[in-house]
This record gives sequence, C-alpha cells and structure tokens, in this order.
Amino acid sequence: MKVVTTVKEVKEQVKLWREQGFSVGLVPSMGYLHEGHASLMKTAKSQMDKVVVSVFVNPLQFGPNEDYDSYPRDLDHDIALCEEQGVDLIFHPAVEEMYGKNYNTYVVMETLGEELCGKSRPIHFRGVCTVVNKLFNIVTPDKAFFGQKDAQQLAIIKRMVKDLNMNLEIVGCPIIREEDGLAKSSRNTYLSAEERKAALILSKTIFLGQDMVKNGERDVKTLLDAMKKNIESEPLAKIDYVEVVDGETMQKVEKIENSVLTAMAVYIGNTRLIDNFIYECE
Ligand code: PAF
Repeated sequence: MKVVTTVKEVKEQVKLWREQGFSVGLVPSMGYLHEGHASLMKTAKSQMDKVVVSVFVNPLQFGPNEDYDSYPRDLDHDIALCEEQGVDLIFHPAVEEMYGKNYNTYVVMETLGEELCGKSRPIHFRGVCTVVNKLFNIVTPDKAFFGQKDAQQLAIIKRMVKDLNMNLEIVGCPIIREEDGLAKSSRNTYLSAEERKAALILSKTIFLGQDMVKNGERDVKTLLDAMKKNIESEPLAKIDYVEVVDGETMQKVEKIENSVLTAMAVYIGNTRLIDNFIYECE
C-alpha cells in the first residue's frame, strides 16, 4: 500500500491502473478511521480491483466555531487500518495541496443542503460538495463508498452526481454501531465516560422510532413527540433537530409513506452526534 500526498501522484497511479484494466473505488474520509470506515473499505474491496482511501480533514466543511482544530487525527493508526483492509492507496494531502493560493471555486447544493444539518451548519454541505467533487476529479473512481450514518450527506452526493452528470456510481453502506448501539463516529472520542453513557439515548431513540413505525405508526407528529420525549429524559442531551423527511428531497413529511428518513442531531455536552433510520413503505 502506498501513501501519497500530491494530486500528481494519485493521477499517475490511477492512470497506470487504468492502463492495466483495473476498476477503481474511492472511500473518502477525514481519517481517525474506525470500524464504520473499515466496513466501507470491505465493501469497496469486494466490488473493485483497486481501492483508494482519502484522509483529509477538510477545513471548508467546518464553521468558524466548530471543531476543525480539535478534530482527532492519527495517520499511523489510519495507515495500519487501511493496510489491514487491503487498501491500495492512501491520499493524504495538505490543505495547500487541495486549496492552493487564490482558490476560488465552490460547489453549492441548494434546498437539500439547507435542511436538517444544513440549518445549524450553514456552510457544511458547500464544503462537503466541493471537496468530494475535487476528490472525484483527482481519483476518477468508478464507484465511491459513503456511510448511511451521514444520510443527508449521502443524499446530497447522489443528487450532485446526478445533477452534474458525473460518471460514477455512489454506493451507500449501512450504519455500523458499537455493541451497545451507539453509531460509530470519530467524534465519539470527545465524550467523557458519563457522556458516553448518556449518548446511548440517540440509538435508543432511533430503535424506539423504528419499532413504532414497524408496528404501524404512520403519523409523523406522534412519532416525533415520542422520540423527542425520550431524548429529553436524558439530562445531558440537548436536541438540535429530530425530523422525518422524504429520503430524496429532505423535505418534511406529515405521513410515513414511500421512503422516509428519520434523522436527528443531538448535543451530548458539547459534542454534536447524529443518527438516523430509513423506512421504505411497501
Ligand atoms: O463523511 C466524511 O468523513 C466527510 O464529510 C467527507 C465525505 C470525507 C468529506 O470531507
């Protein structure tokens, strides 16, 4: 496995692979890799000849008061995990390599990017779309692999690929959870022992909502009232949002029909965590 830091090195390697007839998959990441990322790599390895993982904490997707500086970083650990998963190339650029002097081009997702997480993180999806677009242009993958935990991000990237006629397939992969239910996230490392226990309120509430819908609840207000009440029973939790939206447009719905996404962002102390479930009506 190679670790490279420049766009030129990635392009040269991918060109060689293309000449040899290999398909190429990309797993974009911000590093501090965990089992959620490992499962994306596994899926990518099972479908592609060559797998590239990008490790880049993208400053563009963090607001001024967010955790860009404190975001956890551990390249040695990331290299070991990628090696274990049989990854072929890690792309680990510096910020200057991605956004050189006079950088001035951005990709903006309108309505979809303004809902849910977009309300409390107004520039977030502009940063995500811009960096993902650049990664797609640099690596030119046949397929790129994203986790369902960031459901809005996944929907936005699928929309961007469709809207801009990009030549690749986006593969969404299931949420990976800790044994006790907490969705895996690099940000879980911010939690104190007490907060880690309190954070279970997210997955417990997701399972509660999932059970209600499986058992026939179709009224969104009833579902959301029960979910919010459950979260509010945890003193360390503060709701950012809990919403039920159409899985493609991210617009709120009142009845559960077709494919709906129930998504939440909740602060546990100062740490903002997200979780969700999708329900496909038959
Ligand atoms: O999901 C992430 O880790 C990031 O948002 C991504 C897609 C790698 C873009 O920086």
